[in-house]
Order: sequence, then structure tokens, then C-alpha cells
Amino acid sequence: MRPRRKRTPAQSKRRHRAGGMLPRALAAGAGLVWLLWPGSGLTHVTTTNTVVFEREIAGILRRHCTDCHAPGRPGAPLMSYEDVWLAREDVLASVLTRRMPPWAAVAGYGEFANENALTLRERQFLVSWVEGLGPRNAGEVFLNVPDSAGDTEAAASGPGGEAWELGEPALVLELPDSATQDGTDGREEVRIQRVVLDPELAEDRGLSGVEYQPGDRESARGASFFLERTGRWLGSWTPWHAGTLLPPSVAHTLRAGDRVLAEILYSPGGEGTVAGGRIGLHLAPESRATASPAVEILLEAQEGTPAGDGLTRIHAEATVGGPVRVLALLPGRERGVRSLEVSARLPDGRTEILLLAQDIPYGWPTPYLLAEPVPIEGGSTLHATAYYENAEPAPANLRVAVSAF
Ligand code: HEC
Repeated sequence: MRPRRKRTPAQSKRRHRAGGMLPRALAAGAGLVWLLWPGSGLTHVTTTNTVVFEREIAGILRRHCTDCHAPGRPGAPLMSYEDVWLAREDVLASVLTRRMPPWAAVAGYGEFANENALTLRERQFLVSWVEGLGPRNAGEVFLNVPDSAGDTEAAASGPGGEAWELGEPALVLELPDSATQDGTDGREEVRIQRVVLDPELAEDRGLSGVEYQPGDRESARGASFFLERTGRWLGSWTPWHAGTLLPPSVAHTLRAGDRVLAEILYSPGGEGTVAGGRIGLHLAPESRATASPAVEILLEAQEGTPAGDGLTRIHAEATVGGPVRVLALLPGRERGVRSLEVSARLPDGRTEILLLAQDIPYGWPTPYLLAEPVPIEGGSTLHATAYYENAEPAPANLRVAVSAF
């Protein structure tokens, strides 16, 4: 959709002059010239489309798609010109319907560090390219990555010996290969692996970040890590974002003996046992013992959703005592969420929207990591409002963990 812009009267006048009769006359004239030009039907075969695969399209795919659409990854490869050319109609449809890439937050409400949405311009490039019948540069061999072929291999390389993207972690926990359970309702839409890990901490420490390297990148779709003792969210991984790092002065409090619960989601199907991979824990240096502790504010409610077309609205709120800075929002994974809004009503009556997400995909658990901590005054109320739609009657749980400090 094209956002409609309001014009001032002066702008409209200017537009009239520029876009009015004269260009139309020129266009008509050009059409006439074209018709009268000798042999025009043969010579005018070039299209006006200037979007070519190697220049615009390969970069868009590399930025937004090939974390998943590559060999050894969950989606069918979109690596070569041929892959993409053959799938071009599907690619366009998946992008225009916002099915791909999986990212539900609506642009314009909050900025996220792990955002993976196409910009309007990128979508327009894809439209032009597909409608222009998918041209490429003058018949050159496509290397997928414009400048270096090495990048392609790096993007598709398997686990083991990989570099940690968020820096060298203080502790590395290996996950055992283990069985997965089918996702809820026996509908097998996802498989879940739950593992409790013991970092064997002898003393209290601050946890400043979590990164994950899946053992099975072909089917891993998302991972979240929680403090077992409290159930508090510590961080998440998605195929396009390696982990979660807190700002320098903030840390989750880990007590001696505390354990970490890892919950990893996999694509449906596949074998019963998956390779677990490993988790890197970043610990705050001792000198940072005074770091602000991360807190969690839970927005929770439950209601039954009737079957059918109707939307069920569920709302939860919580008042924050003192001022906080919001770091991340973690919605629980629920089926049939048409929309979710998380906002803060400030004491002076203003509302600040932290997240507006639409058609949250059930199979892609995604945290919303704010690009910058968002300050919320004490006395504000955090609100979460979700609209659910289910084909069958089901209890719907609204649960949004708000990580703050
Ligand atoms: C986080 C992983 C991920 C990212 C990022 C991603 N895809 Fe997908 N995509 C998948 C998976 C997995 C499937 C298989 C169907 C499913 O499970 O939803 C898929 C399916 C598709 C399909 C098949 C038709 C359909 O809609 O199911 C197309 C086309 C597609 N993706 C295009 C893209 C494009 C274009 C991008 C980038 C703009 C992209 N995808 C980004 C994982 C991803």
C-alpha cells in the first residue's frame, strides 16, 4: 500500500503545473511519434525497467531472505538467479502479502534491533523486477554475492567452529542432542525441544547477553532462554538474529546454582531427535556488579475464543511504579493472533505505542528488541491488546513479557 501524503495547497498547485496538461500532451505526442516511427514494433523491444538481478535484487535477498533460503536452511534456496527467476511470482506474492520474511511488526511504531522487514523501496524493486520479466546483467554468471563469493559460503555454512556474532561469550553450554515434542494440540505444526542447562555458577553473576548456535539450522526456527527459577525471559535467537545483548549497564541477575531453560522450536516433520547446538552466555564483569538489574513486567490475561469469523479482543495491563526503560517485548506464542498492540499510557494522558504487530506467524517465535531502550515514566500503565481469530474454539492466552530496567 502506498501511504497517502497530505499536500499543502501550494504543493498541489505546483503538482498541477508539473503534472497537468503539458506532460499529457507530450505523452500523446510521443505515442503518435512512436506509431509513425518506421519499424517501431521491431526496434522498441527494450523495457523501461532498470532493476536488474545482480544490482538490486541479490542484495535484497541477501539482507532479508538467504539466512533461511539457502542449502542447509529451512527455506528452499533463493541463491542463484535461476532459483529466484523460477520462483519469482511466489517471491513477489509472499513479500506483498507480508508472509515473507516472517516479521509481524508494522513499520512506524517503534524501532527494533532485530527488525527484518522489507522497506517500501525494496518491495518496489521486487515488483519492478518481476513485472519486467526478471532481467539480469548482461548475461554474466551469477555469483549470488555481488562482490565476494566467499560470503555465500559463510552464510550457508553449518554449525561447529562458527564465530560468535556478539563477541566471545564467558561461558558456552552445549545442548544435548535430544528428542523434540510435537507442538501443541498434536497438530504437529512445530516441534519443541526443552532443555534445562546448568551454568554451574558458584556465585551470583550478572548475565549481559545470550547467543545461540543451532545444531540443526535446517529446522531450527527460533529459540528462547529463560531463568528456570522465575521463568523470566533472558534472550532469544531467530534465524536472522544471533541473540540478545543488553546495554552495557544492565544485567539479568543469576544466582549461584541458577539454571537456564532453553526452548527451541523446529519445523514440523523431520526426525525425532535434533542436534542441540550451543549457547553462549555473556557475563557482566565483576566490576559491573552494580549494573542495573533487568526486570520483567508481565501483561497477562486469558479468555476463550469462539470458533468462526469473529475476532475476540483480549486485554491486559499493569502499572509501573517507578520509571523504567523498556528493552524488549516478548509475546507468548499463540495461534490465531490477528493483531497485538503494546502501549504505555503516560500519567499526562499521552499514549506511546511500543509495538503494533499484525498476523503474528505461529511458527516463528520472535522477540521485539527495541533499538534503543524506551523510557517510560513511573505511574504509567502498560497495555497489551490482542485480537484473536480461531477456526476452532480455543482458550487464548495473552502473555507479553516486557523486559526493562
Ligand atoms: C526466518 C526464515 C525465513 C526468512 C528470513 C525468509 N523465509 Fe521464505 N520461507 C521460509 C520457510 C521455512 C518457508 C517454507 C514454508 C513455511 O514453513 O512457511 C518459506 C517459504 C517461502 C516461499 C514459498 C511460498 C510461501 O509463501 O510459502 C517463498 C516464495 C519465500 N519463502 C520467499 C521469501 C523471501 C522472498 C524472503 C525474503 C524477502 C524470505 N522468504 C525470507 C523461511 C524464511
